[in-house]
Amino acid sequence: MRIAVTGANSSVGLRLLRQAAACGISVDAGVRSESAMRSLPSHELIAPRIISYRDPDSLDALLRDCDSVVHLAGILIPGKNTSYQEANVDATASVADAARRAGLPSFVFISVLGASPDSANAYFRSKGEAETIASDAAPAGVVIRTPILLGPGSAGSAALLAGVKRDKTSLLGGGKYVLQPLDVDDLCAAVLSACRRPVAGTYELAGPERISYRNLVLQTAELLGKRVQIRSVPIWLARLGAAVRGRLRGGGITPTVIDVITADEEVEANADSALGIELTPLRETLAKLQEKRTP
Ligand SMILES: NC(=O)c1ccc[n+]([C@@H]2O[C@H](COP(=O)([O-])OP(=O)(O)OC[C@H]3O[C@@H](n4cnc5c(N)ncnc54)[C@H](OP(=O)(O)O)[C@@H]3O)[C@@H](O)[C@H]2O)c1
Repeated sequence: MRIAVTGANSSVGLRLLRQAAACGISVDAGVRSESAMRSLPSHELIAPRIISYRDPDSLDALLRDCDSVVHLAGILIPGKNTSYQEANVDATASVADAARRAGLPSFVFISVLGASPDSANAYFRSKGEAETIASDAAPAGVVIRTPILLGPGSAGSAALLAGVKRDKTSLLGGGKYVLQPLDVDDLCAAVLSACRRPVAGTYELAGPERISYRNLVLQTAELLGKRVQIRSVPIWLARLGAAVRGRLRGGGITPTVIDVITADEEVEANADSALGIELTPLRETLAKLQEKRTP
């Protein structure tokens, strides 16, 4: 089997490339720059390729002779030069067009719990719009909605580790919001399973345990042998500060991002069995967090 991966240098991409190669799957790994290319693992089954979402030829070359594409490129934190429309919607549309031109039988897209084209939140809305595009991109359009992802190098893990480094840490709303963290390696196993046996649909895949962010921080601290005191930052105050900073900087942690981070995560029916994977216990996932994001 041969798959193409966009956003191959993302935290999910780096784990996916390793897992795919270890299973004997060839990967055409799409990235946007030479420096991103250098961050990819070096393996005979991994072929790095520079792509541009505005250059259909580069996407056609990425997808040539592949059985499936896994579209990972996407953002939560917008920047001065990167909007949700460009990174989440337009990039997905470009890859979907290329998948149709290549006649790919399946298109796997990583989305987020809460995604909806009707959402009042701009991030969830952009992911919802991208889901619709991805579902129509191939006979088997597979959408996997995920919660916060934990694994070496993921943004969620970096925030957790930064929080427990200090003796005192400030959490939004005291960290009362409830998450259902998913091990990045479990997501990668699910993605590869979807590539092998693609069945069109939208799957909600979350971790085995629901836990408040506060308790997640405390559990991580305990595992690392640390004690951490938790202080609370009112969410309204954080939103206000983010609104001002977001205007000045033209991006970064905006009120939209704060609303995403503090949203409760819950799935009605977890897709672990449907996607043929076994979920890693949260404690095991947390124990892996200190591994480095190595190529
Ligand atoms: N991490 C989570 O907790 C989480 C939760 C739910 C869903 N997801 C989804 O899972 C996927 C992978 O997430 P991740 O956390 O592994 O990503 P990540 O490490 O933040 O990497 C983001 C990727 O998107 C690319 N990208 C950024 N701006 C772009 C643009 N304007 N156009 C095209 N590509 C752009 C980046 O390429 P450059 O390096 O070239 O900028 C990079 O490859 C994303 O679609 C994300 O929305 C993640």
